[in-house]
Amino acid sequence: MSELYEIVKVPAPVLKQQADVVGQVDDTITTQLNRMLETMYASNGVGLAANQVGILNRVLVMDVTQKKDERGKPIFMVNPEIIWESDERSSYQEGCLSIPQQYADIERPASVRVKYIDEKGQLQEMLTNAEEDLLLNHCVQHEIDHLNGRLFVDYLSSIKRNMMIKKVQKLVKAQENHVL
Ligand code: NI
Repeated sequence: MSELYEIVKVPAPVLKQQADVVGQVDDTITTQLNRMLETMYASNGVGLAANQVGILNRVLVMDVTQKKDERGKPIFMVNPEIIWESDERSSYQEGCLSIPQQYADIERPASVRVKYIDEKGQLQEMLTNAEEDLLLNHCVQHEIDHLNGRLFVDYLSSIKRNMMIKKVQKLVKAQENHVL
């Protein structure tokens, strides 16, 4: 098992930055992908983008099939790009490892086509469908948003967003105070 990353929490500036395109899937990227996956599993997350571990490259991992203490089918995406989105919308209550214990209903396109490079360097496409897999549809869009410096709270009013960020700051401070 590889060493874990530390997950960055709001309001860290790296979460608001645009990640850079990856040149090629080499050993460094493969190591990063595996380490991100382990970090995501350890935090019981279903998705994790590079910004969230303090790296500004266009890399994300997802596993919407995992159950507790059981690996499902991980998906690795390098340079993901939404090349089509439906007019139809779907809504899902989203959370984020960088915004712990905060949730909100977020509306997004009900279907998207994503072009990406997989962990073997192969060009792939994914077509999501909210009716078939609501979580996957929202997860992939949420993670690609991360690579563009966008968080789910950015879809909310500034009052709601600031309230959630303050709550996370309090939470992080409380945790730090307990670890002496
Ligand atoms: Ni997130």
